[in-house]
Amino acid sequence: MPAKTGIYGAGDIYDTIYQGRGKDYRAEAATVTRHIRSRNPEAAALLDVGCGTGGHLRHFADDFDRVEGVDLAEGMLAVCRREYPDIPVAVGDMRALRTGRRYDAIVSLFSAVGNLTGTDELDATLRSFADHLEVGGVVVVEPWWFPENFTADHVGAAVVTVGDRTVARVSHTVRDSDTASRMEVHYIVAEPAQGAEHFTDTHVMSLYGREQYEAAFVRAGLTVEYVPGEFDGNGLFIGVKGGDL
Ligand SMILES: C[S@@+](CC[C@H](N)C(=O)[O-])C[C@H]1O[C@@H](n2cnc3c(N)ncnc32)[C@H](O)[C@@H]1O
Repeated sequence: MPAKTGIYGAGDIYDTIYQGRGKDYRAEAATVTRHIRSRNPEAAALLDVGCGTGGHLRHFADDFDRVEGVDLAEGMLAVCRREYPDIPVAVGDMRALRTGRRYDAIVSLFSAVGNLTGTDELDATLRSFADHLEVGGVVVVEPWWFPENFTADHVGAAVVTVGDRTVARVSHTVRDSDTASRMEVHYIVAEPAQGAEHFTDTHVMSLYGREQYEAAFVRAGLTVEYVPGEFDGNGLFIGVKGGDL
């Protein structure tokens, strides 16, 4: 199945990789919550956009009264629904959110925004976030690499085993153009009862500059600050919706 849908069609395999690699969703959610609370201490309702399998959402649910998730990929959301049935999630596109509600915080983590193309899509996304925020609401965005800190011609490799499933993931990342990276990823997924399967996936991701992110926040009517050093070096963009929108 992943051969046709890519990794985002196979949330269980995605989870095996990041659980096996020890991605610390709990600590990341705590960091994001701290940034939200320092700007909006009463924040009660949070939306995670590009929430995937719910790795952060499950922890946000401990700290906020109401949490929801949106993602483009049903294959990711299916795992979230199975593992965290009390957390409402829905298929949706960050460029045109239509949840029918407003939130005190909207977050988009693990570089989900890197999947956007061009300034127009980044603008549409930040406007969409601002439209779904209460006044005083906080946006937290984890960017993909900036052009100047992106390492081209990079090979990454991991072999992980969680339960009965072993996954080998080898990636090769190149500069696709002045404004995008391209990562070819090979996966081998093996289970004792089913044998081994191989599939590949390609992710073209936009290399927006820091100033492009900041301009999109400002054009959407949000304040913006960049907090470097969080989350393995990519940092976080944090914005607040003022009262004049
Ligand atoms: C690297 S995964 C991150 C998932 C999750 N936030 C995490 O930390 O594990 C990127 C996610 O963004 C989602 N995505 C990509 N483009 C999107 C869009 N336009 N709107 C909503 N979600 C999108 C993908 O389906 C995928 O689940």
